[in-house]
Amino acid sequence: MAKQKVKTTFYCQSCGTQHAKWMGKCSECGTWNSIVEEVITNETAAVPGVKETFSIKKTSRPILIDEVEISDIPRIKLPGTELNRVLGGGLVPGSLILFGGDPGIGKSTLMLQMSLRLKGKKIVYVTGEESEQQIKMRANRIGNANPTCFLLTETNTQSIFHHISELQPDVVVVDSIQTLHTAVLDSSPGSISQIRESASEFMRFAKETGTPVFLIGHITKEGSIAGPKILEHMVDVVLQFEGDRNHFYRLLRAKKNRFGSTNELGIYEMQGSGLKEVPNPSDILISNREEPLSGVAVSATMEGMRPLLIEVQALVSTAAYGTPQRSATGFDTRRLNMLLAVLEKRCGFRLSAKDVFLNIAGGIKVDDPAIDLAVITAILSSNEDVPVTAKYCFAAEVGLSGEIRPVSKIDQRISEAEKLGFEAIFVSKYNKKGINRSDFNIEIIFIGKVEELYNKLF
Ligand code: TYD
Ligand code: MG
Repeated sequence: MAKQKVKTTFYCQSCGTQHAKWMGKCSECGTWNSIVEEVITNETAAVPGVKETFSIKKTSRPILIDEVEISDIPRIKLPGTELNRVLGGGLVPGSLILFGGDPGIGKSTLMLQMSLRLKGKKIVYVTGEESEQQIKMRANRIGNANPTCFLLTETNTQSIFHHISELQPDVVVVDSIQTLHTAVLDSSPGSISQIRESASEFMRFAKETGTPVFLIGHITKEGSIAGPKILEHMVDVVLQFEGDRNHFYRLLRAKKNRFGSTNELGIYEMQGSGLKEVPNPSDILISNREEPLSGVAVSATMEGMRPLLIEVQALVSTAAYGTPQRSATGFDTRRLNMLLAVLEKRCGFRLSAKDVFLNIAGGIKVDDPAIDLAVITAILSSNEDVPVTAKYCFAAEVGLSGEIRPVSKIDQRISEAEKLGFEAIFVSKYNKKGINRSDFNIEIIFIGKVEELYNKLF
């Protein structure tokens, strides 16, 4: 036996940088207390008859870009429209996809559901987290059966490759990357070097065999995929599953996609029997108000390429304690403070002694600046205690001087509002040029200042 050489090295758990010695703060990314020591041995795997890693054997030479031929390998169509759309129109053979999300959000459910519905394709679902019985129970819950879906409870990458090369599946799902360990390294599963090495083995496997691989990854407190950032650089696609655990809606986004746009969004609803696609989300996100309520306004936002009508709720009340509270769910608190300052300073509303609470319905997070106008409307409506009619909808950004600013894709927003039966939409007057009024039956109200909004509504 070859002499075992023990080598240790230090990794930053946040950015994956390798350091020669331990430090309190990573010199690369500046994170405190993130450096860990990991043992690495150079001894290679000793599973007999097992090809240890995958390597691309082709030698390469420079080639003119015009001579490169794109072989037309069709994408694998996945069941359901949402996942296909987020991936850019299906699964590209040989792609490596990292699928991240908070614990309990439904990553395993979505992947199992996909595996069970992908009829006629051979799938291997590798799990290091749950037993076969647990998976079977979940499969029963989802209520689908696929005679060509295999389960493999294994965490050693070498034996995983051993099994997959026998089965030759069309798709591989690994749940999760943090449980894998490769015999090439000596450190424990879940450590930076293990995650990195296991992922790169799967990358070589995917590229060499043309088999698409989904790697499920956990997310750290800060919201990035646990393990080094390097994982995100390595893979072709990074999918993120988000949503509030206490709400039913789950959003599937592509944070990176080498084969398509990252603007697409998939929306699912968690039900008793798995995840159900939501084809017309706006319908559900807006509550059907019987009687008018103050502090509610509907915004026509865009989530990537998809228009989404979302209800904004605000509550303004006299502060019970000295310092007024400002809190927002689903909306940036700093932006809320900014909008409140605009209302205070530019428009003369006395809000500095008031508590302000803001909530975006459905547990959805919105970054689209076009929601500003609805936020302001909801705050003013609650402050005045005057309801805004449920037939109005809003789409504009609010600037620091209280001006109503134009937003992109205004046509799509207006069409969506019209489709859902709104009677009027408030937009910036600077959007006027881009709108062909004869295209729409909905009334379009152009405004330029917050005061105009106030005068029209209250
Ligand atoms: P899971 O897929 O295990 O999450 P992850 O792999 O991201 O950690 O999903 C967990 C939650 O989903 C769990 O709390 C139960 C719930 N769930 C349902 O509500 N309905 C279902 O049909 C299934 C399978 C799970
Ligand atoms: Mg899971």
